[in-house]
Amino acid sequence: MVSFAGAQEALFALSHALLPAGETLAVLTPAFQPLVHTFAERGCRVKTVPLQPEQGWAMDWNRLETVLQQGCRLLIINYPHNPTGTLLTRAELEQLVALCDHHGCRILSDEVFRGLEHEPETRLPALCDLHEQAVSVGVFSKAYALPALRIGWVASRDKQLIQRLQVIRGQISICNSLLDEQLAVRVLAQSEAILQYNRRRIRRNWKALQAWMESHTDTLHCLPPAAGCCAFPCFRDGRDAEGQAEQWIQQQGRMVLPGRLFLGPSSGFRVGFGFDDHMRYYPEI
Ligand SMILES: Cc1ncc(COP(=O)(O)O)c(C=O)c1O
Repeated sequence: MVSFAGAQEALFALSHALLPAGETLAVLTPAFQPLVHTFAERGCRVKTVPLQPEQGWAMDWNRLETVLQQGCRLLIINYPHNPTGTLLTRAELEQLVALCDHHGCRILSDEVFRGLEHEPETRLPALCDLHEQAVSVGVFSKAYALPALRIGWVASRDKQLIQRLQVIRGQISICNSLLDEQLAVRVLAQSEAILQYNRRRIRRNWKALQAWMESHTDTLHCLPPAAGCCAFPCFRDGRDAEGQAEQWIQQQGRMVLPGRLFLGPSSGFRVGFGFDDHMRYYPEI
């Protein structure tokens, strides 16, 4: 394991450690943008594998297999998923690992929302525990809801990769803030209690948001999230969500992000329900 000043720094280091420029990788979309751009900026060729909104954001296994057959060296996944709040089943994750293994493709698993499964028994193993080449990324800012602690990490059983990451970290933030580290150790000692507290809050918040969704089912379709603190409703008539999102942000200060920012369908938008403050009210359409 190597720690970094946040998951974003970990991803930056991985973009340098995992692949030389010019290699091809695949990302499931919609996606947290830096999962695409950090690697594209580094000079890698990024292929997208769109999740299928009509099938509950299911994996497009045919598209994935085609991309893997075309010499893809790395697949980036992110479950619990930002922005849709979906989760794979254990069987699906194992199928993914076997498929990538078969094609010689390594998996980078962004697990920053791991621990926020709405049903705790659906929590997936860290991918680095399932496969010796897999790479898991975590952070305190998401599942632990402690963004002020700028500490993230990369875990892998690949010792060479870990050594390379240590060298790269030596060229960027060098080491963590000692203060952050001391707080992080105290948080980890209470890890499950904190996650449980956060899960309770997002379940409560989701109920409030769900009531709002249900009063707009003629206009919006939203798959109830299985994990994390975001959902991705889409307008049923296919209208572009950007204008509406802009209006909500400008007029009501809601944190609503249009699907375009996640390389997802333009009729969709991400809503967050991590903070109680988000839940005061939701706007009229
Ligand atoms: C899926 C995902 N990965 C990584 C990060 C980066 O986390 P941090 O900003 O705490 O480094 C984020 C932040 O929003 C995220 O949503």
